[in-house]
Amino acid sequence: MEALYAALAVVSLSFFLFFVKFPYFLHDCVFIVKSLRVRSKRMKFRKRLPYYTVLDCFLDAVQRHPHKPFLVFEDEVYTYQQVDRWSNRAAHALRKHTDLREGDTAALLMANEPHFVFLWLGLMKIGCSSSLLNTNIRGKSLMHCFLCCEAKVLIAGAEYSSAVCEVLPELRDRGVSVFLLCDNCDIGGVQSLKDKMDISEDGHVSHTLRANITRRSPAMYIYTSGTTGLPKAGVTLHERIWGGGFFQFLFGVKHDDVIYIPLPLYHAAGLIVGLAGAIERGITVVLRRKFSVSHFWSDCRKHNVTVIQYIGEIMRYLCNTPKRETDQKHSVRVAIGNGLRADIWQEFQCRFGVKKIKEFYGASDGNMGFLNYTGKVGAVGKANFIQKKLSPHALIQYDPELEAPVRDSRGRCVPVPTGETGLLVCKITEITPFEGYTGNPEHTEKKKLCDVFEDGDVYLNTGDLLRMDHHGFMYFQDRVGDTFRWKGENVATTEVSDIIAVLDFVKDVSVYGVQVPGHEGRVGMAALTLKEEHEFHAEEAFSHVTNFLPSYARPRFIRILRSMELTGTFKQVKTSLLKDGFDPDRVTPPIYFLHESSKSYIPLTHTLYNNIISGEICF
Ligand SMILES: *[C@@H]1O[C@H](CO)[C@@H](O)[C@H](O)[C@H]1NC(C)=O
Ligand SMILES: *[C@@H]1O[C@H](CO)[C@@H](O)[C@H](O)[C@H]1NC(C)=O
Ligand SMILES: *[C@@H]1O[C@H](CO)[C@@H](O)[C@H](O)[C@H]1NC(C)=O
Repeated sequence: MEALYAALAVVSLSFFLFFVKFPYFLHDCVFIVKSLRVRSKRMKFRKRLPYYTVLDCFLDAVQRHPHKPFLVFEDEVYTYQQVDRWSNRAAHALRKHTDLREGDTAALLMANEPHFVFLWLGLMKIGCSSSLLNTNIRGKSLMHCFLCCEAKVLIAGAEYSSAVCEVLPELRDRGVSVFLLCDNCDIGGVQSLKDKMDISEDGHVSHTLRANITRRSPAMYIYTSGTTGLPKAGVTLHERIWGGGFFQFLFGVKHDDVIYIPLPLYHAAGLIVGLAGAIERGITVVLRRKFSVSHFWSDCRKHNVTVIQYIGEIMRYLCNTPKRETDQKHSVRVAIGNGLRADIWQEFQCRFGVKKIKEFYGASDGNMGFLNYTGKVGAVGKANFIQKKLSPHALIQYDPELEAPVRDSRGRCVPVPTGETGLLVCKITEITPFEGYTGNPEHTEKKKLCDVFEDGDVYLNTGDLLRMDHHGFMYFQDRVGDTFRWKGENVATTEVSDIIAVLDFVKDVSVYGVQVPGHEGRVGMAALTLKEEHEFHAEEAFSHVTNFLPSYARPRFIRILRSMELTGTFKQVKTSLLKDGFDPDRVTPPIYFLHESSKSYIPLTHTLYNNIISGEICF
């Protein structure tokens, strides 16, 4: 008997010690089992011929519950069947009025609205891919993005008619068919599309129109501001949709949930994690044209929302509103997103009582991701042993001055010790492929890092700095290179510099992002030198940046330098500019602040500076 007790004691003690040493063992196991289920589902889709796409998944959901609401938008509700019919209309109208055929691409310049979804599905029904243009871009950038993926057709929301007109001559020269989503259109060379869809037949669209689509066919192009230059089109293959399309499943979203999507559908988070994920779950989507602080909770209450999608900024805006008695009156139980800081997470959860916050890390142009499945505050996710095996990755030392990974005497990269910040690199393999950027082999190559740990290996440089703790939790730290993030968008500094350099009084310009207390990411700042015998024209600079740059990319601060110090490398100059930030005590005047209501840049005084730091002036 005593021997039995002793044995039991030893067993329980070893269990106890095991869980002390590996407190997340069970979390890991549960998550791994779920991931394996996702893997086996994906394998099943792959074996089906033709490949089982998100469209097939949608059509199955239509069969299962035709009358269940799929899309709720403002005062409109569309059931699964109605969305199916509307996307048939889109498909038939496009076949009739364009020469789009299987394998072709159409570009959408649209805000979140039901027609975005109808057209996205409709294009898939005729075997075409969609190129999802960021609705903030204009002019040269817009044209550049449009041309990247050789789209034959441009379809724009009615509110973007002036953006379309700006580039119309060039589109016409290239023989592009241009449509505006309105009932009639009096712009020469632009056709209306809404009226054509309204009267189009809504019957079944034959499978033969997409018979040749495989798992490796492009489903859509999503734009990212990569490390340099103009936005790049990252291709999402049909099979890659299932990469993010299962996040909702992994996060425990159930078939009777209702998801609220306030994020733009032209980003992977909104479209893949949000919309495609909802299709996979067969649930109702409450779509919002644009995030609005004042409507957020009333929308959630009105539509019985149970799952919300966020980026860090959204949570901060919500926390910054005055407290109300109704703060916890809603049914939201899960929040899915990224970029949430630990302090805001706690405040958000306490105040609004949302039980689960599910943070993930990943980029549409990346080849791996992390999910926060254990609920560790501040972590974007956790690296577990299966993931380490399946998608080998490492955090390596990075030299911010050279803007390159540190190499040792043998030319190999150097992993950082646990607990220190390093550049995340992920091995490119069959399971973790990198599709690259369409029509941009040069930038595709730039994202790759060769001979990292051994001869001939190739890793993807994510451009993100992360830190891993002793339990394997990953914490996002910053982005490197020539981009910064602001308001959930990546801003490429070179793109902003190119625009500013056009001003006739500007000699040289350097653009970078500076941190502002109480804000996620970095806000844009530009350092200029002026041409001889020229002055800084604040109003002209203001109207130029507002005309040519989306609001998130406009430099909020401009400082004038006597000269770009030519000692040292250009990158060292940038490092010292970054160190100065916009602190008037560090920066030799003049320094200016973008002031919307004066429609100009105004000198940044100490009072203004203090009001910005204390949060009295918001961005
Ligand atoms: C599919 O591919 C076959 C053979 O390559 C071709 O004959 C057929 O026309 C293609 N179908 C479509 C709809 O493009
Ligand atoms: C939300 O739930 C309430 C109570 O269950 C129900 O009465 C109401 O009809 C629901 N609203 C919607 C839009 O589903
Ligand atoms: C991860 O999830 C947990 C619980 O849902 C939460 O406490 C934590 O803040 C999350 N991490 C991040 C970075 O959001």
